[in-house]
Amino acid sequence: MRMYDIIKTKRDGGKLTSEEIRWFIKGYTEGAIPDYQAAALLMAIFYEGMDDQETAELTLAIRDSGDTLQLGLDGIRVDKHSTGGVGDKTSLVVAPVVASCGINVAKISGRGLGHTGGTVDKLEAIEGYRTDLSTEEFVEVVRKVGVSIIGQSQDFAPADKKLYALRDVTATVDSMPLIVSSIMGKKLAANDDCIVLDVKCGSGSFMKTEADAFKLAQLMVSVGTRAGKKVRALITNMDRPLGRAVGNSLEVCEAIETLKGGGPGDFKELCLQLASNMLELAGKGSLEECRAMAEDAIKSGRALDTLAKMVELQGGDPRWIYEPERFPKAKYSLEVKAPEKGYIFKVDTEKYGEVSLILGAGRSTKEDKIDNTAGFVLERKTGDLVFKGDVIATLYTTEKKEALERAARLMLSATALWKEQPEKMPLVLGSVE
Ligand code: URA
Repeated sequence: MRMYDIIKTKRDGGKLTSEEIRWFIKGYTEGAIPDYQAAALLMAIFYEGMDDQETAELTLAIRDSGDTLQLGLDGIRVDKHSTGGVGDKTSLVVAPVVASCGINVAKISGRGLGHTGGTVDKLEAIEGYRTDLSTEEFVEVVRKVGVSIIGQSQDFAPADKKLYALRDVTATVDSMPLIVSSIMGKKLAANDDCIVLDVKCGSGSFMKTEADAFKLAQLMVSVGTRAGKKVRALITNMDRPLGRAVGNSLEVCEAIETLKGGGPGDFKELCLQLASNMLELAGKGSLEECRAMAEDAIKSGRALDTLAKMVELQGGDPRWIYEPERFPKAKYSLEVKAPEKGYIFKVDTEKYGEVSLILGAGRSTKEDKIDNTAGFVLERKTGDLVFKGDVIATLYTTEKKEALERAARLMLSATALWKEQPEKMPLVLGSVE
């Protein structure tokens, strides 16, 4: 088999066989196929797509590229995974909430991808926090606190680890088969019993339309269910950033605030809905009962304590969780002000994600280092009335002072003001089971 022929078949709109897909995944994982050929194939898949059979085959090949996680833990394991958004720090709240309700969460998360943030990058904003635990250490943390969040190791879905990093810098992220196989390949290798998928829909997500988001949800649920897992997808609104904070330290602080009982309403609501669905799938009771449990985990402070314990066991200082003012602050900031009076009618959330990237919160090349202090906090969101000169957001950076003005211009160009208030959009658009 030749990589050249596989690229050509897909470039010309053909269908790849199961053998070709498995040969590519094996060769790329082992380093026999170079990045430039893998990138060419990704771009061909981006343009030509894959049918359901090819997508399922790619998913299983990614799952089988490494070990399947056998943790030997007692009880049911449940996980959630988002398809990627802006300001989406739900895992930092949902995982400790569910764990403190007695269900194990052994979570393998990703880094930032394209304009979206990643849980691993966010957690690494906590000084000393290790996302590279061995399987034994991972199990030990879950045994002690019911939850551990780590990054992908070399022996676990290694094909996705390499492809994910390559897609991030080759503009090949927002492709349905690549998203399905990336997420479900990892989730199936992680071997959880139940999976709740948070499929984002709207200007800040990879799926811009409801039809595409539902199709993505259906594909993922069907691949997962056929592999023997209990899978449910919620389709949620990403036409605006989730919560107010975007950027690694800023988002961890917002998650902590939420675990302390505060936090932005939309963010808290989504966390509660995701946590209740995870608990219900895990058999803890009806959706209403599970929601009450999740609310109590926050109200009682148990979920916050769980996060602090997890951070401590993974090398971080738990005082950062109780006293988030310990997170280093950005050296430079700039307020973005409304140029005129009007309702914030619509925002281009992907561009908002780019604002945080150019301030230093994400990567443009695989080797880029992240500025954990970088990002922004929104003072006003879609639907709010602003007057000329009102602050819409404050931008933060330590490493990219020169980017502040450009970032402010980009944010304003992505913010549409209008004389009428926009219609309120639901947070959860539907579910697929
Ligand atoms: N999250 C993933 O893990 N993979 C994707 O492709 C998109 C979001």
